[in-house]
Amino acid sequence: MKDVMTHSDPKTVEDAAALLRAGQLCAFATETVYGLGADATNADAVLSIYETKGRPRFNPLIIHCADLAMAETLAEFSPLARRAAALWPGPLTLVLPARPGNGLADVAMAGLDTVAIRIPDHPLALALLAAVGKPLAAPSANPSGRLSPTTAFQVRLGFDGRVPVLDGGPCRAGVESTIVRVLEDQLVQLRAGAIARHDIEQALGLSVAVADKDAAVAAPGMLVSHYAPNASLRLNTTPKAGEAYLAFGKAQDFAGPTRNLSPSGDLHEAARNLFAMLHELDGLGADMIAVAPVPDRGLGEAINDRLQRAAAPRD
Ligand code: TXA
Ligand code: MG
Repeated sequence: MKDVMTHSDPKTVEDAAALLRAGQLCAFATETVYGLGADATNADAVLSIYETKGRPRFNPLIIHCADLAMAETLAEFSPLARRAAALWPGPLTLVLPARPGNGLADVAMAGLDTVAIRIPDHPLALALLAAVGKPLAAPSANPSGRLSPTTAFQVRLGFDGRVPVLDGGPCRAGVESTIVRVLEDQLVQLRAGAIARHDIEQALGLSVAVADKDAAVAAPGMLVSHYAPNASLRLNTTPKAGEAYLAFGKAQDFAGPTRNLSPSGDLHEAARNLFAMLHELDGLGADMIAVAPVPDRGLGEAINDRLQRAAAPRD
């Protein structure tokens, strides 16, 4: 059998924390499944998650926190959210209104104004989060479309040993966390997971609704019109008078508001700038943003997916 052990596997929590602080990826054990971790405040590190998983589009990621104090810097906690957070640490992810300027990379939240947070119930994951001192974005540590890994061995197998893994033994739960959106006066389950809805209801003395598959609240990553700027978008084009221009690579001369995703044509840089530049052009008040063609290779696939969603007709 092929040897898939890496020589770069961290031996200690401190080694793993050093990798993550340096902007590198490190997989780690949680009680649900192994996560592919990155510093959630570092856009390049978060983009490496999408690249490594081969994820075709930017889906918002779950942000893992060391404790409630860290979580409170990222999101607004209503009294209801505070009640639900009593189940932390645990396999419950809460979708909450993001705090403006919370320092998270736009790509981690996929440009949404809500953020999905959990505190994992695993001693090694908690020690790692405390050692890094920053929130970690972590989807399941498998190539896109494959099964979630529940052992370090499966992570190494999935990524051919290319990703360092902090081995914490087999995962207790083996399925992903339950995702619950906290609305003003109601909890809505968006994804069934490692803690049953009934158990959440029992523990909190509250009822938990189930998201309607068609409801906008259900899965923002799945909606056709997802990240919607105020302006409309025209794709693969050049700008006309009165429009704003989102360029890529060599930009044509244009007198109106212009941002360039990457003057040098670097898709990694373009992905990092995408949400921020759409926000900026939106803020300048244009009704229409003309977007230059972006090649469909590598991260370009995710960029074009997001642009198509932003350009899609809205209700
Ligand atoms: O157990 C787990 O949750 C694992 C371990 C590693 O913690 N993580 C995990 O993460 O499953 P991920 O990134 O694969 O799951 C993200 C899910 C996606 O379905 C995404 O749509 C949803 O969370 N999500 C993230 N942010 C959201 C938001 N603001 N609103 C609604 N759903 C959100
Ligand atoms: Mg997954």
